[in-house]
Amino acid sequence: MRVLRRPEELASALPKSGVGFVPTMGYLHAGHLALVRRARAENPFVAVSIFVNPLQFGPSEDYDRYPRDEARDLAMLEAEEVDLVFLPTPEALYPEGFATYVEVTGPLVERFEGAHRPGHFRGVTTVVAKLFHLFRPERAYFGEKDYQQLAVIRRMVGDLHFPLEVVGVPTVREPDGLALSSRNVYLTPEHRKEATKLYRALLAAREAARRGAPVAEAEAAAKEILDTIPDFRLDYFAIVHPGTLEPLRAWVPGARAMVAGRFPEVRLIDNLEVYP
Ligand code: PAJ
Repeated sequence: MRVLRRPEELASALPKSGVGFVPTMGYLHAGHLALVRRARAENPFVAVSIFVNPLQFGPSEDYDRYPRDEARDLAMLEAEEVDLVFLPTPEALYPEGFATYVEVTGPLVERFEGAHRPGHFRGVTTVVAKLFHLFRPERAYFGEKDYQQLAVIRRMVGDLHFPLEVVGVPTVREPDGLALSSRNVYLTPEHRKEATKLYRALLAAREAARRGAPVAEAEAAAKEILDTIPDFRLDYFAIVHPGTLEPLRAWVPGARAMVAGRFPEVRLIDNLEVYP
């Protein structure tokens, strides 16, 4: 496994084709590894980037305290037989005078995460576009955990004709249902227990859909559970179209429930397909 830190080194280290690419911010867990394994199964060459991207954090967000453990991450990737890991510094990707951004516009980025984290998706699409240019992958892997991010990346890839396939990978969860996230380490033990109610709320919406309840009733069933979480401020719960993320009034195939909110110490997001 090669470990490179400078963008200029990548071109000569990559094969001409057959690259499966997994972008991450590190502090890896089994969710990230699901992406890596899928990439390993589908591509002759697997490349992973680890970069805590300052551009996608708001001024009041957790860029400085975002968890980092380079040695542990590298050991995990080595065990997955990854071919190349890219670990750039912020100065390498954003040198003095950097002034070029890639931005998806419109409702897809304005609602949900976009509404609560201004500039976040602009930071994500800018860094991912840069990484796509550096790696020229045939396939790139993203988690359904960040469902809106996946939809925004698909939009960018289509709109800018990136010659690659975006592969969405199902969310990996703890045994009690909590979606794995690098930020879960911030949770107090008490809030860690309460956090499972996000998934239970999503399941309640799916249950309501299965018994034929209308969308509004499924939303109400989920919100009833979310309302019982102490110290939790709900940012949004919505049932949306799986492609456009437009809030739904009637069921469509693949309808997805989206939830986000914050405990004082950490913000959590999750989502689930609730209508087959
Ligand atoms: P990060 O939060 O490190 O996540 C990297 C990838 O792992 C993303 O595609 C994310 O959706 C996926 N992932 C995280 N938790 C997961 C889980 N429990 N199950 C399945 N997949 C999971 O997302 C980012 O980094 C950044 O925005 C990035 C795309 C790297 C751009 O900076």
